[in-house]
Amino acid sequence: MVKRFRFGRPIETEAVVNEAGILGGRVGASVQDIPGFLKVTAGTGMEEGSTVIYEMGERDAIYGLGENVRGINKRGWLYESNCTDDCIHTESKHSLYAAHNFFLVDGRERFAIFVDAPQKIVFDMGFQERSRLAVKIAPGGFVLYILEGDDLRGIVREFRRMIGKSYLAPKWAFGYGQSRWGYQNEEDIREVVRQHRENGVPLDSVYLDIDYMEQYKDFTVDGERFPEFPAFVKEMRQQGIHLVPIIDAGVKIEEGYPVYEEGLENGYFCKKADGTEFVGGVWPGRVHFPDVLNEKARRWFGLKYQVLLEQGIDGFWNDMNEPALFYAEEYLKEAFGKLADYQKQELNIHSFFAMKEMLLGVSNRPEDYQTFYHDYQGEKICHDQVHNLYGYGMTRAAGEAFDELKPEQRILLFSRASYVGMHRYGGVWMGDNCSWWSHLLMNLQMLPGLNMCGFLYTGADLGGFGEDATEDLLLRWLGLGIFTPLMRNHSAMGTRMQEFYRFGHVDDFRNIIGLRYVFLPYLYSEFMKAAMRDDMMFLPLAFVYPEDEMAAGVEDQLMVGESMMIAPVYRQNARGRYVYLPEEMKLYRMRSGEDWDEEMLPAGHHYVPAELNEVLVFVRPDHVVVLSSGGGCVEKVDTSRLDLLHFVKTEAVYEWYEDDGYQKKVNLEAGITRIVVKSDKSVRAEGARKIECRLV
Ligand code: GLC
Repeated sequence: MVKRFRFGRPIETEAVVNEAGILGGRVGASVQDIPGFLKVTAGTGMEEGSTVIYEMGERDAIYGLGENVRGINKRGWLYESNCTDDCIHTESKHSLYAAHNFFLVDGRERFAIFVDAPQKIVFDMGFQERSRLAVKIAPGGFVLYILEGDDLRGIVREFRRMIGKSYLAPKWAFGYGQSRWGYQNEEDIREVVRQHRENGVPLDSVYLDIDYMEQYKDFTVDGERFPEFPAFVKEMRQQGIHLVPIIDAGVKIEEGYPVYEEGLENGYFCKKADGTEFVGGVWPGRVHFPDVLNEKARRWFGLKYQVLLEQGIDGFWNDMNEPALFYAEEYLKEAFGKLADYQKQELNIHSFFAMKEMLLGVSNRPEDYQTFYHDYQGEKICHDQVHNLYGYGMTRAAGEAFDELKPEQRILLFSRASYVGMHRYGGVWMGDNCSWWSHLLMNLQMLPGLNMCGFLYTGADLGGFGEDATEDLLLRWLGLGIFTPLMRNHSAMGTRMQEFYRFGHVDDFRNIIGLRYVFLPYLYSEFMKAAMRDDMMFLPLAFVYPEDEMAAGVEDQLMVGESMMIAPVYRQNARGRYVYLPEEMKLYRMRSGEDWDEEMLPAGHHYVPAELNEVLVFVRPDHVVVLSSGGGCVEKVDTSRLDLLHFVKTEAVYEWYEDDGYQKKVNLEAGITRIVVKSDKSVRAEGARKIECRLV
């Protein structure tokens, strides 16, 4: 059951698109209908914030909040919804790049809350007081949804039904991608592809970071470094490679640059209170921000992607769209003035640190986000009131344009910043993580929360973005990454190079990355089913084994789709790990699609060895996992013959979904083949495809 309560004059975010079944209608239910276990104090004026309070039972767990720091169970910390460009994702932080205001409480009561409001929200999950959950919403209106139900997964499905179907990525985007901030030109990219092809390591995409552009100007390609861009895109396609360029939020201020000039002429950029364009600083230097919350400006910006589509590009990543502000020009001037004052003084301990703080605080200043405005739904709205919608707006711009320009074809699209609702237009990557072991685990822990909010196409920078990766870290991270829909190795300029060929053990990389292509039929099928059925692909164990108290505490294993569980190794020098099995499972210790050991394990705790070249997969009783024999790229994966990992006691029925991977229109049922395996080892496949299945 879902109830909607409306407080003040909320800003319409279009996060919720299916109203059916929501009690309270457009205006909202009356406050008396708020369940007794919640206390809501709603601020009346613009200055007063609102609070939702829940007293937690000692064992209540909290799941959700999408992309954020810390564990799967969010209890015990203070989180914020405040999209921020902050690349140091330590556990001391409160927010990352996204605002995903949905969480579930599982304990004395079982319910979920979605706060639909784009302004800043603080989620005190037992931080101030261990047993008190308090959601504090900054002044401005908001819509509160309360979802109740018996089972966690069912509540999530209900929420997903409300917010609309998830974005579908093209199938090629399930292949392995190599990226690096710093690939300079065609030759650098050819070298990446050559290394993969010559070493027999699969690859489907190479990402173009900001260096492909001419002076970091969106929708341009540097003519010197990429002299024949369309021909180069074609050359890559012939080798099975898709090039995926980055698009940044800021538009360079430069006379003669058409995007700048058109935007200015039409008033499509964000403006200050005095009506002049706001000036920020990002990669290109001085920029304006397109007002992607304004329908006309959004359409205009979205259609700009056409110039790259026309050159053969079929995938994009949207970046810096919190939006990141290296500086706001006005404040920078002020800061220079202050600096000049400091220069005149003899600095003491106080003034020195004040100066240092001022310098360090030049970027992403909350005060600067209060100095520009959007023309949103016919009203002038200050950016800080809608801050969390900017990445959503930018990605929606592209997504809507793709629907117009490429109505049939799926285009790859993912973003750094996001809000619930953006999941209909694109996926997200988890931003600028570091080559730290702790981040491997954190990336795993984010997956279920992201799935709850509809972000199914997601993954992290494998190997870590900042800092130096080591070979073992990359291998272990790939061991998780082979299961995430977005599987991309990406790193920052200035860090150690981390393409597989920078390290010694080519065979290990070939085998582990190869496993992705072996699991592809299963992963793609589970992704598509989750998308079409409003379900999750990555689930905490507690969602599948709600009666098992031990399962509720597991923070480093996940269920992946219907049939299996994963347990990546995330500690350096570990040659295995402890695993908890809520039920008897069959362990496959996989080294490649042809080489593995298998073992039956009873329910309980186990120490399972896993060398650097091994990946652990656990198959549930009466389930199968469909595998291919691999391939050098997604197109080459043959799904007419499937191998089945299996653990069948009586009967397993697997619904295997498959399609051509490019069509936007999907008929799930028509694409399903039912694979039935009986305990006598007989296999039957009926439905969409004629396939050969083999138990392995
Ligand atoms: C941002 C992105 C990162 C990219 C860099 C340069 O930090 O998050 O992925 O490499 O900008 O464009």
